[in-house]
Amino acid sequence: MIKEDLVAERIAIDSYREMVAYLGSDDSTTRRMLEGILAMEEEHADDLVSLLEGMGSG
Ligand SMILES: [Fe+2]
Repeated sequence: MIKEDLVAERIAIDSYREMVAYLGSDDSTTRRMLEGILAMEEEHADDLVSLLEGMGSG
């Protein structure tokens, strides 16, 4: 379950990274918003990795 959640978080991270890269400098306000979301998703992924490591299956 946690592993599936981690996969989903990583897919979200890739999607947000692509959106940020696509925007480049065209729409800096939207890009900053997406970068904020990206940072949160990266934290989620880190938390799940820590959980998996704690369970001895990371
Ligand atoms: Fe998330």
